[in-house]
Amino acid sequence: MTTSSKIEFEASPACAGRLDTLDILKSFREKFFMPRDADGADVIYFTGNSLGLQPKTTPEYVMQELKDWEVFAVEGHLHAKHPWLPYHEFLTEQMARVVGAQPIETVVMNSLTVNLHLMLVSFYRPSGTRAKIVIEKGAFPSDQYAVQSQLKFHNVLSPGFSRPFAQGEPPEGGTQNGTQNLIELTPRDGESTLRTEDIIETIDRHADEIALVLLGGVNYYTGQAFDMKAITEAGHSAGAIVGFDLAHAAGNLELHLHDWDVDFAVWCSYKYLNAGPGAVAGAFIHERHAESFDLHRFAGWWGHDKATRFLMGPEFHPMRGAEGWQISNPPILQMAALRASLEIFDEAGMNALRQKSVKLTGYLEFLLDQIDDQRISVITPSDPNQRGCQLSIRVKDSDKNLFNALTSRGVFADWREPDVIRVAPAPLYNSFSDVYRFAEILKDCLKF
Ligand SMILES: Cc1ncc(COP(=O)(O)O)c(C=O)c1O
Repeated sequence: MTTSSKIEFEASPACAGRLDTLDILKSFREKFFMPRDADGADVIYFTGNSLGLQPKTTPEYVMQELKDWEVFAVEGHLHAKHPWLPYHEFLTEQMARVVGAQPIETVVMNSLTVNLHLMLVSFYRPSGTRAKIVIEKGAFPSDQYAVQSQLKFHNVLSPGFSRPFAQGEPPEGGTQNGTQNLIELTPRDGESTLRTEDIIETIDRHADEIALVLLGGVNYYTGQAFDMKAITEAGHSAGAIVGFDLAHAAGNLELHLHDWDVDFAVWCSYKYLNAGPGAVAGAFIHERHAESFDLHRFAGWWGHDKATRFLMGPEFHPMRGAEGWQISNPPILQMAALRASLEIFDEAGMNALRQKSVKLTGYLEFLLDQIDDQRISVITPSDPNQRGCQLSIRVKDSDKNLFNALTSRGVFADWREPDVIRVAPAPLYNSFSDVYRFAEILKDCLKF
């Protein structure tokens, strides 16, 4: 028996049941469609870090818009129950609460990597010797591609900024992949995750050369959550802009983007935010940039001052705040799905969700610790402040067989090459009994 967050943990179904009884958010599971196995039993759905479950209210929200389209056609822009013209505004306050932002700093638009590019256009402005971008070496590939393509776009891949490296030709001082303006953070030898002190030391060491620090809020592979406040402070002391990719943090961690003074952030809403496949994404731009109208930005009519947008003038006058980064008129059906989900977040509250999440993942960690098998280890930090709900389990000397065995027993997890199984119990719809059942199934599968 052990104690975590003042709760006594035991590896027993009775303990899991007790924890479920005490869970003040337990009724929220009923608000989601949970996939079932062939026998009609609930699966163990631990892939909310990939695609969140569908709220039972989503069809109603989407149908309302389909109905209004049927009835009002073009007039739905003004006369739909929730008029389409200002529709994105209906999401702003709730989304702002999820990420700890002011409404003026928050906008729902596009998809994640598109928003990242839009932010980089405005906030990555290499100048003189200040051209470097700090990222994690293990950043999600889309972020790496986005950043590399921006370096290329600015023609700052090679020293002197004259041209990108030719293939096989890193000039003196360049790195192998030709991206000498990238500083890639790597864990120390023998470690799987980054130490905050090492991140800060790297930023300090390159202070005069860094234009931008761009990290994930939570690393998709290891599940490590970064100290965004400390990193933002360090980046700003170095004179750099600081941005975060919150794909794995939004709806997972309690975020305080405004108070942490982050310059910009982007996130998707198909993971923890449960808005469905390819859902519309979010962006945060700190209030202090709200009237920086001279920042470079790629413009489109939906970012134009809404009072004069329909005068259709030739000059672009951006709106104040994050809305001024919008480009196109928004996808209403996707936004309807996101509204359904954000209602649930508002009802539960990020604080209560996070409290449950710490216990739920703590229980999972406790049960994994009880499994006496040298092949498995957790690479996610054990400090709850350095992780969200995900644990990444490394399976030594394994191929995908263990993962396949879990899948065949009704476990939805995911496999990341070369040897990691990611499991993410989501506090909105996962229970302590799910966690217990998972650990039992894993134990069984390890026997073979
Ligand atoms: C951390 C992270 N960044 C970026 C992306 C890419 O997002 P999108 O395809 O929505 O642009 C993902 C997708 O899973 C992700 O996990």
